[in-house]
Amino acid sequence: MSADPRAAALGPLRAAAQAQPNIALVKYWGKRDAALNLPVVGSISITLDSLWTRTEVRFVPGSTLDRFSFNGRTHDVEMKRVVACLDLLRQRAGVTWGAEVDSLNNFPTAAGLASSASGFAALVCAGSQALGLELSETERSLLARRCSGSAARSVFGGYVEWARGELADGSDSVARLLLPAAAWPLRVAVAITSTVAKEVGSSEGMRRTTQSSPFQASWIATQEADLTMARNAILAHDFDALALVSEHNCLKMHALALAAQPGLLYWNGATVECMHRVRALRREGVPVFFTVDAGPQLKAVCAPQAIEQVKAVLNGVPGVLDVLDAGLGAGARSISNAELTT
Ligand code: DP6
Repeated sequence: MSADPRAAALGPLRAAAQAQPNIALVKYWGKRDAALNLPVVGSISITLDSLWTRTEVRFVPGSTLDRFSFNGRTHDVEMKRVVACLDLLRQRAGVTWGAEVDSLNNFPTAAGLASSASGFAALVCAGSQALGLELSETERSLLARRCSGSAARSVFGGYVEWARGELADGSDSVARLLLPAAAWPLRVAVAITSTVAKEVGSSEGMRRTTQSSPFQASWIATQEADLTMARNAILAHDFDALALVSEHNCLKMHALALAAQPGLLYWNGATVECMHRVRALRREGVPVFFTVDAGPQLKAVCAPQAIEQVKAVLNGVPGVLDVLDAGLGAGARSISNAELTT
């Protein structure tokens, strides 16, 4: 350790945080500025409760090296984005110290379950606290957005809207709480249909779509109406309206990506069969709808009383490996060392 006077002033230089993934009901797909992660459209999501990322960050004065372990192993693929995120935090605090980052997920990663959202929301929360930065949720959301767009939303719990923003510096492209989880406690069943990492990640998928999909202009032109309908449905607790707009927006995002060159096909056969089963359930009067992100997992959002039936139906679909179940939860928060290891 060096005798850096800032280190003494800041205290232990270590902190831990937990964040949960969020599921977009009105999707983010496409960037107007890739360096700042500014989206071409606004988006609306729900933050989950029982699936989490827990991250501990320790800054080491005198060191210039960063180390990142994920689920107990070195993680080279995400290292670049982790270092970029640490750089944003260091710049903010005016230090150059290296950091040791240990991150743990309790759910399968890299297959469309938004692990980067919970991952970077937790990293920003733990890292900023370790450096003694007293950031508001809005400031944390802005920083998390720079690391991975959807992470801006996991800073908040419940129902969250991330604004597209208009400014070139991105200062108005920030997430905000629409409705707390407890105000409308929907449930989510996640049908895992593959545990293989997807071939084309979100960033590359968005780049390809924006450059080559002939539907890009209509995607942007129609998003505002979807956002308004979803926002109103959430504020009115109108399940049917939220179901209609969410399925529509999901299928529209995939139509946009399917039409890229080469086309992006994130579904497998089981994903499609799950969509049919969810719609069949809804026709029978069960309050449930589906959404699918850039991967093969299907998320079925339902009223609390329907969760067991929805899980049973999804479990019966050939090709479904497992069905996880979550409620709606809180935003990124600091946790104690004891929580980190339990
Ligand atoms: C399909 O936030 O993972 O899940 O900003 O490049 O890190 P980057 O992308 P990411 O994209 C998520 C895309 C999506 C839709 C959504 O979450 O809104």
